[in-house]
Parts: sequence; structure tokens; C-alpha cells
Amino acid sequence: MTMATIDRVWPSSAGDVIDDDLVTRPDGPWLRVNFVASVDGGATADGLSGALSGDADKRVFELLRRTTDAVLVGAGTVRSEGYGAMRVSDASVAWRLARGLSEHPVFVIVSGSLDLDPASEIFTKAPVLPVVVTTGKSSEASRARFDGLARVIVAGEEHVDVAAMLVALRELGLDSILNEGGPSLFGSLLSAGAVDELRLTVSPVLVAGDATRISGGPLQHPVDATLAEILVSGDVMMLRYLF
Ligand SMILES: NC(=O)c1ccc[n+]([C@@H]2O[C@H](COP(=O)([O-])OP(=O)(O)OC[C@H]3O[C@@H](n4cnc5c(N)ncnc54)[C@H](OP(=O)(O)O)[C@@H]3O)[C@@H](O)[C@H]2O)c1
Repeated sequence: MTMATIDRVWPSSAGDVIDDDLVTRPDGPWLRVNFVASVDGGATADGLSGALSGDADKRVFELLRRTTDAVLVGAGTVRSEGYGAMRVSDASVAWRLARGLSEHPVFVIVSGSLDLDPASEIFTKAPVLPVVVTTGKSSEASRARFDGLARVIVAGEEHVDVAAMLVALRELGLDSILNEGGPSLFGSLLSAGAVDELRLTVSPVLVAGDATRISGGPLQHPVDATLAEILVSGDVMMLRYLF
């Protein structure tokens, strides 16, 4: 992968920002969300986010993983984007080990239905035991399919209660959590007031059509965001918002 140059234009300006200044590891409990969207607000092109991504986005994507205790993803994204085992790059492993972190972050998947394949490399090739978060409605038998492959956490009866989920994850020592999507899970996290930071890459393309937006589901009130940083790499803009 080409190492994209990323410049900071606000609040201070700096050219070719180094990795450790692009993404820092937060102290204590922190929930970050990372998305890429088209200029016209689409979160997908042809049903996937890949076509919206580029070298600059991929660089920040890896740095966000590097600095987190856990990567949290909704089952819809896992099913559509075809995730494998959660592994960071060799450089990220070295960065993590130097700071006393596990080699790789814990992969946390949210699924009420447990419609996930235990034979997937997500589980069979996982370098760290993944976590599956589900509801009390799921059967004992469906949970038992993950015996030895994942730690299964029940959070909520009818729907996954994301606030209860975060309490359970923090009890496991997972303070810094990175949510890589998707829109339904982000909507639930916003509803629960659980999001601390959003990293949004604006990809220089328009997709029109019926592409989903980055957040979905009902929200009682609009949530205000405070702009904290603007990064630029060529035509790509990368925004950081705090809540
Ligand atoms: N642009 C980007 O950066 C980006 C990032 C990620 C995803 N995407 C795109 O988003 C699309 C997938 O969207 P999505 O909304 O289906 O994905 P999602 O939020 O990843 O997954 C939704 C699923 O998560 C599970 N879930 C359980 N409890 C939930 C809760 N309280 N709130 C929300 N979800 C809960 C459910 O799984 P069960 O059905 O198993 O019960 C639900 O069907 C894909 O096209 C993907 O490419 C884009």
C-alpha cells in the first residue's frame, strides 16, 4: 500500500503529519466511530464501502485499529464486507507491544440473530479470542456453536442493549473501543449517547441512488457534534468530530 501523505489544515496546520500525531491512543474509556462517505452522503457504492476508500483512509483506518483495545462491528457489516480474523500490521503489533497492549485488538461482533458462521476465519484464525454480543432471545444451542471460538455476552433481552454491552466490554478491560460500523449499530450507539468521537473520511465521489447513510435507525433528537480537526490528502477530506 502506498503511504498517503496527510496534511492537517485545522485547528493548526502541519504538512505530512506523522502516524503518532494522526491518531493518538485515548486515556480511559473512549468510543470512536470510523466511517467513509461520498460527498453526497452515501456510505456505500454498489453496496460496499470499499470503493469509497483510498490510501489516506486506509492509513487512518489501520492507525485507529493500532491504538484500540477492541474493534466493534455490527453483524450486517461483517456479513456484507466479508471480514476475516482481526489482525493489525506488523508495525502496529510492534507499536502495541511497546505500550504493553495485546498484539492485536479484540474483535467484538454484535448480532441478535447469531447468523454468523463459526467456521469463518474471524473465529478459526483469530489471534485473540473474539467476543460475540447477543440478546437473551438467542437460544442456548445457537450460542453453544461458538464454544471455544468466542466469548458470548448477552446484553439485553429483545434487542442488544448497547449501554449494557459497553459496561460488559469495559469489565473485560476493553476501555478504548473502535466501532467500524455499520450504520444500524452506529445509530444505536448515538441513541444511547455512547459515542465520544467520529472520524469521517469524505471521499471525492458522488454516488446518488439509494446508498445508506453512515447512521441509521430512529434517533429521538438530532445529536450535535463539535468539529475537532480537518485533515486533507489530495481531494480526500478527513474530519474528526467530538460529542
Ligand atoms: N461507509 C462505511 O464506512 C461503512 C462502514 C460499515 C458498513 N458500511 C456498510 O453498511 C452496510 C451494512 O449496514 P447495517 O446497518 O446492516 O450494518 P450493521 O450496523 O453493521 O449491522 C446491523 C446488524 O447488527 C446487529 N445488531 C444487533 N443489535 C443491534 C443494535 N442494538 N443496533 C444495531 N445493530 C444491532 C443485527 O445483527 P443480526 O441481524 O445478526 O441480529 C443487525 O442486523 C453495508 O452495506 C456496509 O458496506 C459502510
